[in-house]
Amino acid sequence: MPLKPCFTYIIGASSLLMLIVGISLVLSNVFPNFLQSKVKTEVVLRNGTEAFEVWLDPPAPIYMQFYFFNLTNPEEVLIGERPAVMEIGPYTYREYRPMEEVVFQDNGTRVASVNRKTYIFERNMSRGPESDLIRTVNIPAVTVMEKFKDSVIAANLISAYMRSSGIGLFTTRTVGELLWGYEDGLLKALKLFDPELDKFFGLFYKNNASNDGEYTFFTGQENYKDFARVDTWNGKSSLNWWTSDECNMINGTNGASFHPIINKNEVLYMFSSDLCRSLYAVYTKDVIVKEIPGYRFVPPFEVFANHTVNPANAGFCVPSGNCLSSGLLNVSMCKQGAPIIMSSPHFYQADEKFVEDVFGMRPNKDEHQTAIDINPLTGTILQAAKRLQINVYVEKIPRFSEIGNVRTVVFPVVYLNESVLIDDASAKKLQRVDVQKNVVENIPFLVIGLGIILGGIFMFLMCRQKVPESTEAERQPLISS
Ligand SMILES: *[C@@H]1O[C@H](CO)[C@@H](O)[C@H](O)[C@H]1NC(C)=O
Ligand SMILES: *[C@@H]1O[C@H](CO)[C@@H](O)[C@H](O)[C@H]1NC(C)=O
Ligand SMILES: *[C@@H]1O[C@H](CO)[C@@H](O)[C@H](O)[C@H]1NC(C)=O
Ligand SMILES: *[C@@H]1O[C@H](CO)[C@@H](O)[C@H](O)[C@H]1NC(C)=O
Ligand SMILES: *[C@@H]1O[C@H](CO)[C@@H](O)[C@H](O)[C@H]1NC(C)=O
Ligand SMILES: *[C@@H]1O[C@H](CO)[C@@H](O)[C@H](O)[C@H]1NC(C)=O
Ligand SMILES: *[C@@H]1O[C@H](CO)[C@@H](O)[C@H](O)[C@H]1NC(C)=O
Ligand SMILES: *[C@@H]1O[C@H](CO)[C@@H](O)[C@H](O)[C@H]1NC(C)=O
Repeated sequence: MPLKPCFTYIIGASSLLMLIVGISLVLSNVFPNFLQSKVKTEVVLRNGTEAFEVWLDPPAPIYMQFYFFNLTNPEEVLIGERPAVMEIGPYTYREYRPMEEVVFQDNGTRVASVNRKTYIFERNMSRGPESDLIRTVNIPAVTVMEKFKDSVIAANLISAYMRSSGIGLFTTRTVGELLWGYEDGLLKALKLFDPELDKFFGLFYKNNASNDGEYTFFTGQENYKDFARVDTWNGKSSLNWWTSDECNMINGTNGASFHPIINKNEVLYMFSSDLCRSLYAVYTKDVIVKEIPGYRFVPPFEVFANHTVNPANAGFCVPSGNCLSSGLLNVSMCKQGAPIIMSSPHFYQADEKFVEDVFGMRPNKDEHQTAIDINPLTGTILQAAKRLQINVYVEKIPRFSEIGNVRTVVFPVVYLNESVLIDDASAKKLQRVDVQKNVVENIPFLVIGLGIILGGIFMFLMCRQKVPESTEAERQPLISS
């Protein structure tokens, strides 16, 4: 039988070949590299790519939800007791933010656009109508009092006006007014002396259906890591925002795009208009969203830590040297001088004393942390929630008797949750990409597995060929004995 050993050797050689090929494929990373370079060329802002379509008009619905703190004991607060608040919400808005006036520049390495945001109230995802009443701090009044507290004449005049028109430390307004603006009596009166003043006030006044100027973004054509990264805003280089102490960081973009092929050691920067600065986040764990694998990124404790823990936050010690405790950022300079202080909802991760200062604060990681889940291969956002609380710094101002004997407190007004969850159609596509990725990445292991099986067969055949001879040789003495 001359064919049989030949066949056996072919099997042996194939086994060896497969093992070599398989192992070298694993070691050289050919398939993952191929996949990554494919993603790198496809995730680019170029007319026709899917990434461009998504960037132009994100298909997943973005919701902005507001939770107000309704003050229940105003009289007690005026005589120095701790405020007690009740969380009321959500009041939900669907957020639309298409890119407009899109123009490619510099051979497709950059793209210019404006990003108008529109908020539409979603009654059936809200606790009540926009006409619900909320009692909270009178922010225009506090701002005016803080501004004029050192000027005797102005303070007396303003104090008299406030008393005569019944303006106090607290006000009761509708949700719609507090968010989108209302004509304020005190500001209207002051406008007589300062025509520049805006008599309207609202936490998101003028934010609806407005844009904040022209951005240019990198398309990612030159370097995939620059995908959709802001290059300039209104002609100013984004590099200046990092170094500038002022508020002109970025008040528009969203950071809704991340480059593909994210690794766990990366620090992701997101832009937050509300904080007048960039926020960063680090990897915390693996997650699965709609059957798609993702990495969860969360801002580390240091983002909000005081300047001793995080010296980078010294820029928020304003005036210079005047630092707030951990968990708070003074953004007064970005809000026309209003004493606004940002924190996480319910003072999550802030100094315990702020939680204790207000009845009704219940910080909780799952509900109050900011988190973003990203598919590492494509950079797609699977799920995200940006959560921030707007507070007012309230203190006793001796020249204004109407605010009584109030204790110094960081008073919570409202917190917001801006969230997004990948839509089903995009999720389907990503699931397919994930399956392909798994198949492609496992090809080398399939080859190795096949090599091992063939190796097994080869050895089996080799043994069977030799067995008859040796058994014969062993049997002989047995018979003779
Ligand atoms: C993209 O291509 C389409 C069709 O070719 C064209 O109508 C559109 O203006 C292009 N968009 C941009 C931003 O160049
Ligand atoms: C764009 O490409 C053209 C031709 O390929 C080249 O001549 C030109 O210098 C490029 N412009 C920029 C800004 O890179
Ligand atoms: C925002 O503007 C749009 C369009 O101008 C309008 O339909 C919508 O009601 C506005 N939303 C709010 C909250 O005022
Ligand atoms: C908030 O408190 C005020 C004053 O007690 C009350 O009139 C109002 O109904 C409360 N708002 C809601 C939404 O419960
Ligand atoms: C952005 O921030 C700057 C600096 O505070 C401010 O002057 C400008 O009006 C803001 N733009 C918008 C659209 O809010
Ligand atoms: C900063 O925070 C740390 C840790 O929370 C605390 O020990 C320290 O006293 C704080 N420093 C100031 C100046 O608030
Ligand atoms: C916040 O900053 C402003 C100046 O931008 C300053 O006047 C104010 O005192 C600061 N507030 C606190 C509580 O430190
Ligand atoms: C936003 O966060 C709040 C709690 O902070 C939570 O109750 C709400 O369900 C979240 N919204 C979405 C759409 O995830």
